[in-house]
Amino acid sequence: MRKKVIAGNWKMYNDLDATAELLNGLKKGIGNSEAGCTVIVCPPYTSLSLASSLLKGSIIKLGAQNMYFEEQGAFTGEISAAMLKSAGCEYVIIGHSERRTIFRETNGMINLKIKKALGSGLKPVFCIGETLEEREKGITNEVLKTQLEEGLAGLGEDDVNKIIIAYEPVWAIGTGRTATPEQAQEAHKFIRNVIGEKFSPAVAGNIIIQYGGSVKPDNAAELLKQEDIDGALVGGACLKADSFLSIIRSA
Ligand code: 13P
Repeated sequence: MRKKVIAGNWKMYNDLDATAELLNGLKKGIGNSEAGCTVIVCPPYTSLSLASSLLKGSIIKLGAQNMYFEEQGAFTGEISAAMLKSAGCEYVIIGHSERRTIFRETNGMINLKIKKALGSGLKPVFCIGETLEEREKGITNEVLKTQLEEGLAGLGEDDVNKIIIAYEPVWAIGTGRTATPEQAQEAHKFIRNVIGEKFSPAVAGNIIIQYGGSVKPDNAAELLKQEDIDGALVGGACLKADSFLSIIRSA
């Protein structure tokens, strides 16, 4: 039985005041009892330390939205895995489609980031997904397979056991156009099969595969009911405590 994982990707939203307001709202709504699912918030870098201190004693876990794969050095504007650890992060989103498209991240760079995150004790939330053009061409599965093979190249079963995969069809991100539960389930099943072939049936059976792309309080339950959907990576709807709490309750 895989425990559902609901993560909120805040993207480039929320200054320190808004961070405190949102986290206090979430803490109040969740309480300190053990939730039936794992809850992660991924604020921008500038809010991580504040979030870490506000979340002390809470079941809500902390993640970052990106990192660089080098240890340290002259990489102006970049943040290392060790810095994220020292700021209190347990998770890090890697390979989000906005990083891939706007900041030109390649599968090769994403692979280096995943390896560095794992080596530093961070759990990667590894994002993959096809564009609308790729879906319409009928090459969704090839695209997902390549992203998985190149992103996870050189990793062993023990490494992959620590990774969460987030399937985020690019055409569903921020568009209000969610994949249907059937479309999402089909992709998730395919992803799990690829993991089974590349690693082992046991790894495939345990790995958490989240769906992301216009997840809202009114569609979360239907998506989360699907056999191979183990959680959600939420963008817009995680910025208000009420709507994020409602999605957490669906899980
Ligand atoms: P939206 O929920 O706003 O579509 O964003 C999804 C996403 O990109 C989460 O990483």
